[in-house]
Amino acid sequence: MPNRQNFKSKLTHKVFGTIAEISDGQNLETYVIGGFVRDLLLDRKRENYDIDIVTVGSGISLARDVASAINPKLNVSVFKNFGTAMFKFDNIDFEFVGARKESYRSDSRKPIVEDGTLEDDQKRRDFTINALALSLNKDRFGELLDPFGGLDDLANKIIRTPLEPGITFSDDPLRMMRAIRFATQLEFIIEDKTLEAITEQAERIKIVSMERVMDELNKIILSSKPSVGFKLLDKTGLLPIIFPEFVKLKGREIKQGISHKDNFYHTLEVLDRICPNTDNLWLRWSAILHDIAKPATKRFVEGQGWTFHAHNFIGSKMIPGLFKRLKLPLNEKMKFVQKMVLLHMRPIVLSEEEVSDSAVRRLLFDAGDDIEDLMTLCEADITSKNADKVKRYMHNFRIVRQKLQDLEERDAIRNFQPPVSGEIIMETFGLSPSREVGMLKAAIKDAILDGLIHNNYEEAYNYMIEKAKEMGLSPVK
Ligand code: CTP
Repeated sequence: MPNRQNFKSKLTHKVFGTIAEISDGQNLETYVIGGFVRDLLLDRKRENYDIDIVTVGSGISLARDVASAINPKLNVSVFKNFGTAMFKFDNIDFEFVGARKESYRSDSRKPIVEDGTLEDDQKRRDFTINALALSLNKDRFGELLDPFGGLDDLANKIIRTPLEPGITFSDDPLRMMRAIRFATQLEFIIEDKTLEAITEQAERIKIVSMERVMDELNKIILSSKPSVGFKLLDKTGLLPIIFPEFVKLKGREIKQGISHKDNFYHTLEVLDRICPNTDNLWLRWSAILHDIAKPATKRFVEGQGWTFHAHNFIGSKMIPGLFKRLKLPLNEKMKFVQKMVLLHMRPIVLSEEEVSDSAVRRLLFDAGDDIEDLMTLCEADITSKNADKVKRYMHNFRIVRQKLQDLEERDAIRNFQPPVSGEIIMETFGLSPSREVGMLKAAIKDAILDGLIHNNYEEAYNYMIEKAKEMGLSPVK
């Protein structure tokens, strides 16, 4: 592909015109570079994006001049130590930097000291496809500057570093995660030498903060086929360092001729299967973690084969510790994942038996508003190769979903509030807080879930009187 291509027609945003005007007036060479150019040339539509501008001069003063030409009131944030400045316009972050000789790192703590040419700047970036620059000066507006063959790599779908990969990765080891993230998101192949360098330097990921590592892992998880990224992380040795609990799911053991499935590959299949049905990162994390306690609970029981007793329960208990270490949020998102892991077998058990109204009500009671997400997880979890079995499960899941829809009292059960409160029970029978009060409350709840009574005050009250009588209690008048 020729190198001197022009992409003028793609640079439609009016800010580019303003930048051209001001740069020309000040005799500055200015370019748009990085992810914006990559995605523009790929015709990749994005919802949120930044536009990176690099100038051979001061990025800060250019940002100020451009901002005040657009609107004198526009607020410019300046990061003097890093030699960068940015403003938001049209909901886009415009980031300005002076071309530099040393490595580009978004969160480098080292101040920028050495100015450089455009090419100096390009070669210290992470990948050839992220080092593409388009000129913003008027006489060369839209001209591509591609000294490292980034355009060919885009066409051939290749991730490659501009310099020796060892240098690029040692400048910022997070780039190893970024390589795998881009390969997964863009469906590109990592060039051999680049991949080898990742394998060689994998250990150095330890010096990067877990927050940055997780930002990349989450982007892998949010791509349309995350298993690709996980397999690359595993192959290069990054996965055992950042997420060893997951690697433990690997392998099949055989005893007395009986084996169990490889839970690592099973989990990746579940994760891929859930992606078309949800973009919720935490539901995808639930898929990753649903069997996380299988290695810890694995037993071989004579006559029964392999069991993973209570792996859902133990798994949900493991999650706070895991989230803490992985620097994932310890809030309601974590609680959601815990709930999904705890309940992930319930709809399956249901679909193995006859699907009774009472069982569906109980499931609804325990899952609450997260019932749809739980069903989505369970459907993804059916990875059996036995077509008849899959058909039966899916058929029963349809019945479960139908029943969930049919049950009239659905919403009352989803957000269940006892129709008769503990206070009323105590008042009616002259009780103080005690075991009896709890038993009566539980009996009323069970009667509603079993469909013996409806979820209303009158039926619940009458039922309570009846139950209390069996317990030898009578109302005080
Ligand atoms: N960059 C780099 N090394 C890093 C991070 C970023 O060389 N560790 C450079 C790349 O040129 C990259 C640009 O900085 O294109 C902007 O980085 P960033 O906004 O993090 O990523 P994008 O490439 O824009 O991609 P995305 O928006 O998908 O994260």
